[in-house]
Amino acid sequence: MTDDILQVAGKVALITGGGAGIGRATADLFAEAGIRLAIAENDPTRLADLRAAMPDALIVDADVRDRDDVARLIQEVEDRFGRLDILVNNVGDYLKITSFFADSTEEEWEALYGVNLLHMFRVTKAALPLMKKTGPGGAIINLSTVEAFRGIPRATVYAAFKSAITGFTQSLAVELGADGIRVNAIAPETTDTAQITADSKVPLANRPHIGTWFPMGRFGRGEDSAGAALYLASERLSGWVTGTSMVVDGGVLAAGAWMRMQGKDTFTHLPIIAADGYTDIE
Ligand SMILES: NC(=O)c1ccc[n+]([C@@H]2O[C@H](COP(=O)([O-])OP(=O)(O)OC[C@H]3O[C@@H](n4cnc5c(N)ncnc54)[C@H](O)[C@@H]3O)[C@@H](O)[C@H]2O)c1
Repeated sequence: MTDDILQVAGKVALITGGGAGIGRATADLFAEAGIRLAIAENDPTRLADLRAAMPDALIVDADVRDRDDVARLIQEVEDRFGRLDILVNNVGDYLKITSFFADSTEEEWEALYGVNLLHMFRVTKAALPLMKKTGPGGAIINLSTVEAFRGIPRATVYAAFKSAITGFTQSLAVELGADGIRVNAIAPETTDTAQITADSKVPLANRPHIGTWFPMGRFGRGEDSAGAALYLASERLSGWVTGTSMVVDGGVLAAGAWMRMQGKDTFTHLPIIAADGYTDIE
């Protein structure tokens, strides 16, 4: 087998929010695969870090919620590379809003819309002429969440916009099939990133339970979603995959509420308070 099994080397990818977390892990993996990078980021420290770490990449200071920034971003990609093969719409945030829907405000809805969905419309629409000009073999990859496929209390509006990404992904895939551009989504479960510092926050007493919460026994890492993104970016590997959402969750969605009893080969889908004749707890 050759080194170029993915056949992505030399292609151009634009990653939004590539300065941290899943976006940064995707940028690092794409660079390793020989993909030329454009990265949009709006955090000054992360911009400086990217510029130092990736001198060959196009690093653009842009807020992808802003129409003018997005137009300038795509123009800079065209000026530098003259093409765009892969777009990773990675920016997204629950904005630490954890209110019940009944207590949520219109200002919160607007903010969640801007950072989770509106930018995806703006960046994708602005990028499409260049992607179509580049020709068949393109890929659009939208970062969704496992919460698009199950209920998440106190994050109802966030989940609603993430669910909308499923519809956007499916319908756009149908529209762009004839252009040879595939559109897919990645739906991660809790992943250690700048936004979600999950693993280190688990108190000592609860640490043994990590292996019971996730069938695969750990929180996600940026690299997990980056691997899915590279697969979806590779026409060679995923050339007939479009309109789908790839759940990257360590098996959590498949498990539903089922969890392994700590250190045992038995499982429960009930909160265990005392022996119930079904689980093996005294
Ligand atoms: N981390 C998780 O547990 C998790 C779970 C499910 C889904 N996701 C989704 O994965 C994606 C990435 O999440 P993450 O946890 O890696 O995020 P993160 O906050 O760690 O990183 C996001 C990056 O985007 C940048 N950014 C934010 N707003 C921007 C804007 N308006 N313009 C340009 N850049 C902007 C940030 O500065 C940061 O560098 C998001 O869409 C998120 O909703 C994350």
